[in-house]
Amino acid sequence: MKNDKILWKISQGMYVLTTDGGGCVVDSVSQISAGDNPLIAVSVMKKNYTNVLMKKNRKFAISVLGKDVNPEIIKTFGLKSMRDINKFENIKTTEIDGVKVIDNSLGYMVCDIIDSIDNDTHTLFIGRLTEADLYEDKEAMTYSYYQENKDDFLKVTTTSGKTAWICTVCGFVYYGEELPDDYKCPICGVDKSLFKKQ
Ligand SMILES: Cc1cc2nc3c(=O)[nH]c(=O)nc-3n(C[C@H](O)[C@H](O)[C@H](O)COP(=O)(O)O)c2cc1C
Repeated sequence: MKNDKILWKISQGMYVLTTDGGGCVVDSVSQISAGDNPLIAVSVMKKNYTNVLMKKNRKFAISVLGKDVNPEIIKTFGLKSMRDINKFENIKTTEIDGVKVIDNSLGYMVCDIIDSIDNDTHTLFIGRLTEADLYEDKEAMTYSYYQENKDDFLKVTTTSGKTAWICTVCGFVYYGEELPDDYKCPICGVDKSLFKKQ
């Protein structure tokens, strides 16, 4: 029996991964070693433009999101692709060691990519920490906090009488009366059963 609800009990945070030319929201970040030069791992979906950039670049940054982060940062970096918009146009960033980090965050880690592992859907990138700073010692947003509050947080509104369906996994919103039977979330890939009518 595969009761994957137990996966929701793994503690994850909320971050913006950036690299030269783009970036996206990630929750799959882990510190995999400590010491003088800690190693940080991040898993990026192959369908994301950020994955293409990470394979080209030698560096990435992780900006840690606080509980009170401006929701526009999650909407821009987590629910849209750099293939369609310039994510940096309306979000303030500072360049650290050649990588843009998010100003409205608790701080950042910049890493040199030292290894990567591919599977069918994701690439796990491993980075060695080279630069880091803590801007504000406040509470970080966890993935479960985002899950519990995303309806409120993303303030999904229905315009011109249209029904909104919100993906319960990532928060993507589909506007339309009914979801097609074979519909898959364009952001996280789950099927229509995991969408909730607003
Ligand atoms: C809460 C949340 C968590 C996410 N976690 C990840 C993740 O760990 N890895 C990943 O590749 N994408 C993750 N995503 C999805 C990407 O942020 C999203 O697909 C983004 O639009 C990709 O943009 P890009 O095409 O510019 O790379 C997450 C999105 C949200 C909203």
